[in-house]
Amino acid sequence: MPRRKPLGATSHSRPARYRSIVAAWRNLEDSDSSVPRQAWRYPILRSSAFHENGRVLFKQVAVADIEGLRRFLGEVDLTLSGLDAPTVKLWTEHDPDGSIIGSTGYELSPNGTHALIRSVAVAPGRRAAGAGSRLAMFAISDAARSGASHAWLFSRRSGPFWQKLGFEPADRDEMAAVLAQTHQVRLFTETGQLRHEVAWSRRLELHQAVR
Ligand SMILES: CC(C)(COP(=O)(O)OP(=O)(O)OC[C@H]1O[C@@H](n2cnc3c(N)ncnc32)[C@H](O)[C@@H]1OP(=O)(O)O)[C@@H](O)C(=O)NCCC(=O)NCCS
Repeated sequence: MPRRKPLGATSHSRPARYRSIVAAWRNLEDSDSSVPRQAWRYPILRSSAFHENGRVLFKQVAVADIEGLRRFLGEVDLTLSGLDAPTVKLWTEHDPDGSIIGSTGYELSPNGTHALIRSVAVAPGRRAAGAGSRLAMFAISDAARSGASHAWLFSRRSGPFWQKLGFEPADRDEMAAVLAQTHQVRLFTETGQLRHEVAWSRRLELHQAVR
């Protein structure tokens, strides 16, 4: 099978570790991948908070953090439904001064096999430097570790971003059926917004992920 080009191949400004993680993601299904599978043994898979150089990069959102996240998501024009629901797992990334510079999350279907990736956003001044991919992969890896075999999401504006992470166009009605209980699908169904949405999905094969 021809090997896919690693995402980081042309991005010289990104740290080598980031490039190797993204390359591993890209080559996940290649049996002859030159990227060691243990590249997936990334510390983010072990904890709800990931530290680098003593600084917390990702923090799981608790009740007290929801208002700040709501403001952040409102500014980047993403859906606010279900932020306080116990079934929705969310994380934020912070500046040293505590301000939110990114967010990510997902909600599982009741049987746990399908994950709706949601709330992936980067503050406008921080984009195009790899943060979005890191945040998206954090949620996707955690969903896979939780047992999900498929990841789905709605995105009207950022399809090419998701395609770089292995997502393909999907049937939004199929997505709405398998994830009917999730807050985003319920909201979009109730408001009629579903018919304007664009669905994306990809299979997850992260059985090598550290537990
Ligand atoms: C989408 C978003 C999270 C991307 O964040 P980011 O930090 O800029 O993403 P990255 O730097 O990791 O980008 C990875 C690659 O995707 C590309 N990319 C990012 N956003 C893109 C977009 N909207 N359209 C096309 N390509 C995009 C980048 O150019 C980069 O390509 P490269 O690897 O060839 O250089 C950010 O633009 C955002 O917060 N948008 C508003 C909220 C949103 O739409 N979220 C998605 C909800 S489903």
